[in-house]
Amino acid sequence: MSRLLRLSVMPVAAVLAAAGVVLAPSAHAQSARYEAENAACEGTIESNYSGFSGSGFCNPPNRVGVGVQFTVHAGSPGTFTIGVKYANGTGINRPAVLSANGTVVQSGVPFEPTGAWSHWAITTVSVPVQSGSNTIRLAAATADGLANIDYLEAARAGSSTLPSRFQWSSTEQLIAPKPDATHNIVSVKDPSVVYHNGRYHVFVSVVNTNQSYSLAYLNFTDWSQADDAQLHFLDTTAIGTGYKAAPQVFYFAPQQRWYLIYQIGNNVAYSTTSDIGNPRSWSSPTRFYSGTPRIVLDNMGNGQWLDFWIICDTVNCHMYSSDDNGQLYRAQTTVANFPNGFSNPVIAMQDSNKFWLFEGVNVYRLGAANEYLLLVEAIGEGRRMFRSWTASSASGPWTPLADTKENPFARHNNVTHEGSDWTNDFSHGEMIRSGIDQNLVISPCKLRFLYQGMNPNSTGPYNLLPWRLGLLRQTNSSC
Ligand code: GCU
Ligand code: CA
Repeated sequence: MSRLLRLSVMPVAAVLAAAGVVLAPSAHAQSARYEAENAACEGTIESNYSGFSGSGFCNPPNRVGVGVQFTVHAGSPGTFTIGVKYANGTGINRPAVLSANGTVVQSGVPFEPTGAWSHWAITTVSVPVQSGSNTIRLAAATADGLANIDYLEAARAGSSTLPSRFQWSSTEQLIAPKPDATHNIVSVKDPSVVYHNGRYHVFVSVVNTNQSYSLAYLNFTDWSQADDAQLHFLDTTAIGTGYKAAPQVFYFAPQQRWYLIYQIGNNVAYSTTSDIGNPRSWSSPTRFYSGTPRIVLDNMGNGQWLDFWIICDTVNCHMYSSDDNGQLYRAQTTVANFPNGFSNPVIAMQDSNKFWLFEGVNVYRLGAANEYLLLVEAIGEGRRMFRSWTASSASGPWTPLADTKENPFARHNNVTHEGSDWTNDFSHGEMIRSGIDQNLVISPCKLRFLYQGMNPNSTGPYNLLPWRLGLLRQTNSSC
């Protein structure tokens, strides 16, 4: 179904109201989202490919100069970082001319292929704005036309999009281990999650009564269905048996393939597939390194090299990891070379108290802003918690955000339970992202974090602890 939108004849205030935009980005405020279905789309608003936000996306006819125009509000003059969420299911770039208030800002804004019309990515541009209303226009630079456009997000350049304190509410446990005849598992742990084609796809570590780790996968449409979803054990696929743990999943748009990154022995490996919904389709493991790098061996003490996390910007891919001994490492390769060519890791952050910078690293890009969020799991007074930092680049340097026991990112003192107090540990997990690709974009509004927790009375060896999954929802979001 498609419909023609004629919002261009509406007064600006009505357009803004229709877009639900009340907060303009200011030095302190969050980013504002403008849906294409509420903008002046010179084509049709369609909804025939999943993954869009709001009620649809703009599909302009494929002609030079045709596009979509947004009205973006600014409290004062300055520079906005504009992120445009789009899909380009063809094999070639569909560049656009971006103008602000009638002046061309950039004549070749890239809208590179996303692999499919239902796969979405965000392209970012810096745009000068004036006080009040600004017309931001995207027009096709070539006869191939524009990509399908879902929304435009605007944030003042250089301002933090997150609050400096966090409050959460936690669900009851949502996902528990489901043993079968050959998988006598006691826990589900270390979740990685993407929302794609109307389903959550969750990859986890599972641990059996012999304390052996392997990977598993489940998908479901809604959190209320999560515990009914079938657990697919990936040791029966080409990923194979033997120690595997701490998966991370993302779609690498330049190669139109899904990647699963995970620990394997003392190394890190990947598998790929073109169909995330088919657990049997993953390729066998390929290791990134020939063995544990020297710098890790020299620093890890009695720890272990573990919890690998990859995030790419437009030029580079960064691999973060930990050693359970106070070091956070980062290695790098180019997007063009990925998955090959990762450098030797360097120490990105260090703490003499190993428990205070322990493991479970996540890095995300925050919406349209050129801002990145780093989370590292710590152990404070015996309980698992998360500390946070931000940076203007995926490689750091990292500035503390909420990183203490008094003001943590997530710890038992800033979480209330919706039901029973089923856990005091907020351990290894992952944010619910707004996209699927290697840029790992999360919206800075109403954060959600899928984590592992456990009954506070549990005892016994670490590898037999009864981890389950629950979801934190941010309750103090101002957007
Ligand atoms: C296909 C696709 C559209 C897209 C168009 C294009 O028709 O279904 O959503 O806009 O290609 O090439 O622009
Ligand atoms: Ca089109």
